[in-house]
Amino acid sequence: MSILSQGAEQVAPIDLIIDTDPGADDVVALLLAMASPEELNIRAITTVAGNVRLEKTSRNARLAREWGGREDIAVYAGATRPLLRTPVYAADIHGEEGLPGVAVYEPNQGLAKGCAVEYLVETLSNAKPQSITLAMLGPQTNLALALIQAPKIVRGIKQVIVMGGAHFNGGNITPVAEFNLFADPEAAEAVLSSGVKLTYLPLDVTHKVLTSDARLRQLATVDNQASKRVVGILDAYGRPDMQRYGIPGGPVHDASVIAYLIRPALFSGRQIYMQVDSRKGLTYGQTIADWHGVLGQPANVLWIDSADAQGFFDLLSARLARLK
Ligand code: RIB
Ligand code: CA
Repeated sequence: MSILSQGAEQVAPIDLIIDTDPGADDVVALLLAMASPEELNIRAITTVAGNVRLEKTSRNARLAREWGGREDIAVYAGATRPLLRTPVYAADIHGEEGLPGVAVYEPNQGLAKGCAVEYLVETLSNAKPQSITLAMLGPQTNLALALIQAPKIVRGIKQVIVMGGAHFNGGNITPVAEFNLFADPEAAEAVLSSGVKLTYLPLDVTHKVLTSDARLRQLATVDNQASKRVVGILDAYGRPDMQRYGIPGGPVHDASVIAYLIRPALFSGRQIYMQVDSRKGLTYGQTIADWHGVLGQPANVLWIDSADAQGFFDLLSARLARLK
């Protein structure tokens, strides 16, 4: 792998572990990532209970891997439940199988041996300093358990990109909390307090990366199996949110994280101080984002609040065209 080639500046692909609870938008994120080997060297996929129970999120991750033609990538199953709270799921949004709008079946290739938390501890403990990026597309339970078990793994982590949180326009599972944070607030707190370099893509930005009839048509013109599946998934997945929030399209939450890694210039945000509320009650799982710095605390997260949504769909279309 050439890191620098003659003339054109090339950078080495990002060494990436994707932690995920597929999940409709997770599958779109996985397909986008698997279609982008120049930018992303996917070391493994780790699954967690979240949108649906672990056996289904793991099956759906294996399905996405099959659809992406990347059965070289190991899928490790992780936590079956959050650190402390009673589990919550989002089958009302993602369907009982966790994957709407597409035929779901048992994929050929199975799970890797061993659990995701062991894989994270082992891999991050032996990694070069600050060499591995983690994309967190579901509740942060697996990474929190790995950090609790082996705090020194922080050394191997370059950065953690989280789809999660909400500030400007409220939550999507309670009036103030976003699902991934609400599903395991204590895990998000453990990751935040570990001191890893953190970037959050909250609802503030993902509710601006919305499907539309024109954008679904744009994806459909790619006219391969992958794009047909993505159109079916996004068309079905977006409807509950569109009805619930009266927004003009379905938010493509998790794929925004992958697009951010591939083309960060599509996004913008601000270094801010943030806290997670893990007190029981109406604000449980809320992210308190000090956007205007009124608390005078040092920034601990890059909080992304804007995106070039059409640029996102142009990128997604171009990359899906690489798949079968
Ligand atoms: O709130 C959106 C997030 O919750 C996304 O990651 C979606 O997949 C669900 O997990
Ligand atoms: Ca998810």
